Order: sequence, then C-alpha cells, then structure tokens
Amino acid sequence: MSIYSAPAKIILYGEHAVVYGTAAIAAPIPDLRAFAITRSGEAGQGLVIRAIDSGHELSVDLAAEVDDALVEMAQRVLRHLNVEPPDALIELRSDIPIASGLGSGAAISTALARALAACCGQTLSREELNGLVYALERRHHGTPSGIDNTVVVYETPILFRNREDFEPFRARTPLRIVIGDTGIHAPTKESVGDVRRLYNADPQGIERKLRAIGVCVESARRALEIGDLVSAGHLMVENHMVLRELTVSSIELDRLVEAALGAGALGAKMSGGGRGGNMIALVTAETEEGVRAALEEAGAVRVWVTEVR
Ligand code: PMV
Repeated sequence: MSIYSAPAKIILYGEHAVVYGTAAIAAPIPDLRAFAITRSGEAGQGLVIRAIDSGHELSVDLAAEVDDALVEMAQRVLRHLNVEPPDALIELRSDIPIASGLGSGAAISTALARALAACCGQTLSREELNGLVYALERRHHGTPSGIDNTVVVYETPILFRNREDFEPFRARTPLRIVIGDTGIHAPTKESVGDVRRLYNADPQGIERKLRAIGVCVESARRALEIGDLVSAGHLMVENHMVLRELTVSSIELDRLVEAALGAGALGAKMSGGGRGGNMIALVTAETEEGVRAALEEAGAVRVWVTEVR
C-alpha cells in the first residue's frame, strides 16, 4: 500500500481577472488534502478506482468512453505513459470540500495521476502532471486559466500570469490566513461564464474592472514582498469589492468578509470562483482566534487556518 496526495489551494488575489490574462497570486493549503491509496490487485482484475467519499467504484478500460472525470483522468495518464491499465485498486478520498473554490477537482486528479503512474512503475514530472491535470480541469471549468492545477501540482505559493509564465512567490513574512466556508456549492464554470457574458455585453466597462484587479495584484505583490501586511490587507478588501461588482460574490460571502473585518482581520475577500464556496481573511496571531469565532458566528460551516510561507 502506498499513499499519494495533493493539497487544496486558495487564491490570495486575482481570480476571474486571471482568466483574461492578468496576474494572480495563489497558495496551497498543505494540511487540507486529497489522497490516493494504491493496493495491488489480482492478476487479470484490471484497474479499479474506488471513490470512498461518493461510494462509487469504476473499472478503467482504455477503449470505453465513460462520462466520468476520474476515469477520464486515468485514461489520460495511461495514454500519456503509453501503457495498458495495471492490475490495481486505487482508493480516493478527500478532505477538501467540492465546488467550493479550494481546487478539490485538481487535487483529486493530481493524487490519482501520481498513484496511477506509480502503479505502472513510472513517475510523472511536475510539467507532465500539470499538463494532464489542466486538460481535465477544462472539463470542470470550460476555460480555466490553469492557476488551480499549477498551484496544486507545484505545491508552492505562485505568482501566475499564464500557463507558460508563473513563478514561485515568497512573501517576506509568513501570512496567517483564516479560511471560512459558506457551505454553498457553486460551480466555477457558471461564475466564469457569467463574467464572460458581462464582458461580451460591455467589454470596456468590464475591462476596467479586470484591470483594477490587476492593479490590486501588482500592489499586493509589492506589499507582500516588503512585509507590509496592512497594505496587503487593504488590497484584499479592494479586490473583493471589484469581484462584487463582477457579481461573483454572494450575500453569504459578503457576510463572512464583513465579520472577519469586524473582528480585526487586516483584510478579507472571497477566494476562487465565488457565489458560494470560501473566503479568506489575513490575520495576526492576536486577531486569529477572534476572526475564527466571528466567522463561525456569521454562519461559516467550516473554518481552517493556514500559513502561507
Ligand atoms: O476553481 P476555483 O473556484 O478556485 O476558481 C479558479 C479561479 C478562477 O479565476 C475563477 C477561474 C480560473 O480558471 O482561473
């Protein structure tokens, strides 16, 4: 038995605008993960994927056209490695809430691909893995920027411009982030599609808002590089305001953002596709507990604390 895994992620600044080519900053959540556990199978049994959380079990056949994301990922890996399905059982389980802006799809795909390659006696480079997971992300998102798969596969904070242009990002001081989950599932494909419709109806107006997000990201990058957490916090709020104007926030997200700020967070914003899912708050050691309690009080169904370093 071997265990492979991949982390959840948060977007610190720049979601949605990144789909249109502006930069964004994202970070993994190392303690919140998806897991793939390999167990050797009997000769001739073929490849079976067991999704523990949903309770379904699937056989992977290279020839079959199956409308299932896990099977599609496995087929992509096998075709890429140019091998037949091994006799193996891969169990998947995840602590990452689905459709919540935390990159659960990318994390499960990444863990599965790592496990399957190992069952075939091979390893995938991060570049290969990133490409394979991106191809699958298209199924979830329609027009993904590639930021989710990149931060999940490389498991390091990144400054992401596009799939060919990203680099590790290091803030001068570690960032203490409280994450609050609205508990509302919201497919990223829909919010991204709605921003696209707004854009098509008013290209210049929306372009201005996307550029405003780009300015937040650039200013935040500089603030974080010199350890100016107060400015970094203000820029989170500014970024959130523009996301609201793009209609991708929600009453619940706004309520959690307000609660975090009211409890002394340096900044707070929605994170990811929006309309539900998660928000983040930048805190200090002194405000962390108060912000966590305020989020729970304001209706967060789950709260995590992570450190970005
Ligand atoms: O998967 P999510 O909900 O974290 O959204 C990813 C970020 C977006 O910018 C909204 C979409 C994208 O592809 O970059």
